[in-house]
Amino acid sequence: MTDSWWKKSVVYQIYPRSFADSDGDGMGDLRGIIDHLDHLAELGADVLWLSPVYPSPQDDNGYDISDYQDIEPLFGDLATFDELLAGAHERGMKIIMDLVVNHSSDEHPWFLESRSSTDNPKRDWYWWRPARPGMQPGTPGAEPTNWGSVFGGSAWQFDEKTGEYYLHLFSAKQPDLNWENPEVRQAVYAMMRWWLDRGVDGFRMDVINMISKDVSLPDGRLNAGSAYADGSAAFIGGPRLHEFLQEMHREVFEGRDGLLTVGEMPGVTVDEAILHTDPDRREVDMVFQFDHVWVDRGPDPWRLVPLQLTQLKAILGRWQAGLAEAGWNSLYWNNHDQPRVVSRYGDDSPAHRAASAKMLGTVLHLHRGTPYVYQGEELGMTNYPFGGIDEFRDIEALGQYRQAVELEGRTPEEVLTVLRARGRDNARTPMQWDDSPNGGFSTGTPWLPVNPNHREINAHAQRADPDSVFHYYRRLIELRKTEPAVAGGDFTMLLPDDERLYAFTRRLGGTELLVIGNFSGVEAHAAIDGWDGAELLLTNLDEPRTHLTLAPWQAVVYRRAV
Ligand code: NOJ
Repeated sequence: MTDSWWKKSVVYQIYPRSFADSDGDGMGDLRGIIDHLDHLAELGADVLWLSPVYPSPQDDNGYDISDYQDIEPLFGDLATFDELLAGAHERGMKIIMDLVVNHSSDEHPWFLESRSSTDNPKRDWYWWRPARPGMQPGTPGAEPTNWGSVFGGSAWQFDEKTGEYYLHLFSAKQPDLNWENPEVRQAVYAMMRWWLDRGVDGFRMDVINMISKDVSLPDGRLNAGSAYADGSAAFIGGPRLHEFLQEMHREVFEGRDGLLTVGEMPGVTVDEAILHTDPDRREVDMVFQFDHVWVDRGPDPWRLVPLQLTQLKAILGRWQAGLAEAGWNSLYWNNHDQPRVVSRYGDDSPAHRAASAKMLGTVLHLHRGTPYVYQGEELGMTNYPFGGIDEFRDIEALGQYRQAVELEGRTPEEVLTVLRARGRDNARTPMQWDDSPNGGFSTGTPWLPVNPNHREINAHAQRADPDSVFHYYRRLIELRKTEPAVAGGDFTMLLPDDERLYAFTRRLGGTELLVIGNFSGVEAHAAIDGWDGAELLLTNLDEPRTHLTLAPWQAVVYRRAV
């Protein structure tokens, strides 16, 4: 992969369950995506990333795959998929698939074989271990390690049939594949080549920095008050991760052009990311890091920490500087695992919602890297007004709630406060297409309710309003195509100690851009010299009356020759 067309591209993420339902079963589907391709083309998306569309028991909404080479019947079939791919390609958009190979579903034939007996040839395709020495298998505390799963409870599931445990870092229906076994790796690579041969344009790789584990599987450190330990030291960025990614590159991507690979890597450091994304090392094109979406997370998972802008700038500034020479950044505020950014780092009240959504978009898209837009972000969609736990559907929210309330003595209200603000279902409520009862998402009963604010916030209204978040995002994406400094310029952070203003410059050859975003509800002045008379390229509100004094939630982008 020598070309880097993706530096000038914007990726749009589709969460198929919640995008558009064409057949009235309350669940989004591939035909629904086909019906809305023009919306995506008009926005200016270059690449569509589809969250998993493979056959799946849907325990984790498709991130539990029972057949890697077919389409989930709820979503359609392979013929419809080919139609979608062709429709995207005709409009000049590529499609990348979600690759979920840290684990499969427990209903995948590989796992069914693996669990059938200790001497099955696929036994070693997953992580099977006996109970702790001296403990009665299946009793509390007998698990092979003290690790907790991401979704609450132990990371080990006891299997009566063979008397052993299998590892699942996520739900018990998502057993971890054993990448130490070369047959597993070859099976995954063959599957990936099959999709590329079909015409897909690359992969977003789910928790790919967890595929290599410390095979001694050491116990993790137990934090005070938690029922299970954090075992991540043994499986985040494990000993053979670089080797596996390089092997995958050789076996799958070598000699193929025009593709995009992005590895999701919770907990990845800047230094590791440089190694993963340096093109000479042939691993992946970019990674998703998490530091900037964990900035409002304190040591106590059930206490909200407000955003401190100086910290956010320190984090993103470090990533910009770190990947300036080698490697490349992905840029995102939102995805299907994160709350809506306008509710999180902006202000979703009617007075400031649109302005803060545009400001956040401006700051993100003008960093150096490839921006990702998550469905509905281009409309400034907000968090959902969740009530009690019975309104959540997400396995993570339900599992963590159970562990916190039943095992760790938290009150339901303190857990719910955090889930309402940060829970993943906020991102998963249906896409708001119009102001009709189900927001134009479905004629049936949506699997998760549509946000009542769809009457004001919807694609139909915004396409008709030149001042909308949608048209602002369109202009923002277009700026990447027309102003070379957006994709290619270097990055310098300004005003690192300012708690209200996010300011930086981008420079390429004789052109310099100044980007400032006001992350507050009060007017703020940027003490930055040398920009008198510079051309205002873009702003989300009226032109500032006083030089570099920004209204609440205002963003400005200036250009000058240097
Ligand atoms: C990361 C995905 O983005 C998330 O939605 C999923 O639950 C886990 N990986 C497990 O596949």
